[in-house]
Amino acid sequence: MANFIVITRAGPVLHLTINRPDKKNALTQAMYAELADQLDSSDRDPTIRIVTLTGAGDYFSSGNDVHDFDAFIGFDDTTPVVRFIKAIANCRKPIVAIVNGPAIGIGFTLLLHCDLVYAADTVFFNAPFTTLGLCPEAGSSYWLPLLAGYQRAAEILLLAERFDAQMAVELGLVNKVCKATELQSTVDAVLTRLRELPIDGLLTVKRLMKQAHRKSVEQTIQAELQEFAWLLQGEAFAEAFAAFNEKRKPIFHTD
Ligand code: COA
Repeated sequence: MANFIVITRAGPVLHLTINRPDKKNALTQAMYAELADQLDSSDRDPTIRIVTLTGAGDYFSSGNDVHDFDAFIGFDDTTPVVRFIKAIANCRKPIVAIVNGPAIGIGFTLLLHCDLVYAADTVFFNAPFTTLGLCPEAGSSYWLPLLAGYQRAAEILLLAERFDAQMAVELGLVNKVCKATELQSTVDAVLTRLRELPIDGLLTVKRLMKQAHRKSVEQTIQAELQEFAWLLQGEAFAEAFAAFNEKRKPIFHTD
């Protein structure tokens, strides 16, 4: 099987690269399983202090593979996408996201769980759930209104508006935007800084910042998954799926 998640180590840093560039790094259940395994084992491995996440090629990720949504129906805690969402939401180690290209769907919502997010000035973000007859996932209906404010979150989640990296900084979703050619050196400086700091303090700060939200995030993730599974079986998603395959705009019955 192709190496759809590339895993490398540089000292205490675990680098995870989503590597399916011909499909714009769309995520399949097999890829979620690998990401979940890596995040879970990094949590248990004292030699790993920091995790980075990026995409190969010109995309960060185009989100869930549109042909691989079935696993959401009848999901449970063993379903790879559910394992992944919970693993990234609960990861104890600092996660640094390197957004090299557009981040769509869960490729965007997963960023809300990362601790530090750096983006190239060429990228855009999009949560196209309503255009597919679906709803947000990965706790984004909790985190996004909290981080960006309700009205901005509504533009992103209800209207499915695309926004660029500069806007993402203004909304508090991205730490810094830089030229694509400077993205890696920007992140390298951050990784050097993180490596200099004592690990127990880092882990404690992350735990303290996340703990007030943990229960609400868990409840939201569960509620979103149930609604998502229901909507996947609806007429609107069937039309959106057909339209995607036929490379056309969907036509929804709106009366
Ligand atoms: N799932 C499955 N395949 C995807 C994909 C996804 N999320 N995103 C892209 N691909 C595939 C395309 O089907 C195409 O495959 P093909 O070469 O076999 O036809 C290939 O990746 C390249 O994509 P293409 O659409 O030709 O590139 P583009 O630059 O014109 O557009 C996107 C890129 C990402 C904007 C567009 O593909 C898209 O909108 N994808 C769907 C995104 C989405 O809805 N994600 C789910 C969110 S819940």
